[in-house]
Amino acid sequence: VLPRRIRILMLCAALGTPAVAGAEAGIDPWLRPAEVPAPVDNVPTAERVRLGQMLFFDPRLSGSNWISCASCHNPARGWSDGLPTGFGHGMQRLGRNTPTILNAAYNPIQMWDGRKKTLEEQALGPMGAEAEMHQNLDAIVDELSAVSGYRQLFEQAYPGEGITTATIAKAIASFERTVVSGDSPFDRWRRGDVDAMSASAKAGFDLFTGKANCSACHSGWNFTDNGFHNIGLRDDDPGRYAQLPLPSMRGAFKTPTLRDVALTAPYMHDGSYATLAEVVEHYDRGGDAREHLSPNMKPLQLSAAEKQALVDFMETLTGEPRDLTLVQLPH
Ligand code: HEC
Ligand code: HEC
Repeated sequence: VLPRRIRILMLCAALGTPAVAGAEAGIDPWLRPAEVPAPVDNVPTAERVRLGQMLFFDPRLSGSNWISCASCHNPARGWSDGLPTGFGHGMQRLGRNTPTILNAAYNPIQMWDGRKKTLEEQALGPMGAEAEMHQNLDAIVDELSAVSGYRQLFEQAYPGEGITTATIAKAIASFERTVVSGDSPFDRWRRGDVDAMSASAKAGFDLFTGKANCSACHSGWNFTDNGFHNIGLRDDDPGRYAQLPLPSMRGAFKTPTLRDVALTAPYMHDGSYATLAEVVEHYDRGGDAREHLSPNMKPLQLSAAEKQALVDFMETLTGEPRDLTLVQLPH
């Protein structure tokens, strides 16, 4: 079933950054800063965002002309795919769960193992990857250059820069910078609306930042420290260790955002938990695998009401759905 609150409207005007936060943003560490960071050589403009959205939804970016970024990062699925691990080229099962791209604009480091830094750098990865979109990067430049609509759109977005892998990546990144979390009950509560959250959800936030110790890693408005931790899942993926061979990085993965987390089941890099309640049980046990476990993982001894409170709290992090226009692809 699709998340109940998602609406996708066919209208392209709504592509700006959703307004959020107000004066408190930047002061309250639990509210999203209004400004989305962007590199100086790729400041988002309406033309760049629009082009980037087309590319994000265009299956011609894949070798089979069948898979787009949105095949796996589907806005109707919280910008993920609802699968434990997704399917790539030729229906190959991927090794890791598809993370949401919500708020990826704010990540100082990308991927479960941090192997990419910027959105621009990340964007070419899945296109070139054998198991994902299986595209030859020279061929994609030729393919898009043959589409007169794209020639025009690239010229408007990046005058004089042409259609290159760099401008393709920059446009996609510009679109991704508009995929940011909307106003949620939690945000309304932070701004002083005492009725925006139930008593149980408020108790859940107290646990989250207190007894349950979640905010040791899920810290700040995006609920991530952007660090890597082994939380004791039972699989043998080396995680961050493959990039940074330190013992503490074995089985360590990037702390994911919890914004809109109720929309992005199943959970974890291996997609091993189907519900937030199962995730809370995992933490209550203090994890399963003990080797290289983070020192911040301890059995919590939560009561049934406390476990429910944590789930109720996480559900208040679901933002207002944004209106998204599916644009017509150029030919
Ligand atoms: C076949 C499914 C699939 C396709 C197609 C795909 N992705 Fe992904 N994406 C993933 C998976 C799986 C990961 C995590 C992989 C890992 O960390 O090892 C990921 C990671 C990401 C991340 C990092 C998010 C984070 O928080 O670290 C971004 C950004 C992203 N993808 C954007 C894109 C873009 C842009 C495209 C199109 C050019 C794309 N993806 C195509 C499955 C896919
Ligand atoms: C030691 C750091 C740490 C602590 C403490 C911690 N988390 Fe996590 N959390 C992570 C990391 C890292 C992941 C991803 C792990 C993986 O996939 O291997 C994660 C994943 C999750 C996910 C899945 C999100 C997704 O999109 O897949 C949820 C939900 C979650 N944590 C909630 C909590 C709650 C609730 C608590 C407190 C009871 C908590 N976390 C405590 C680091 C932590």
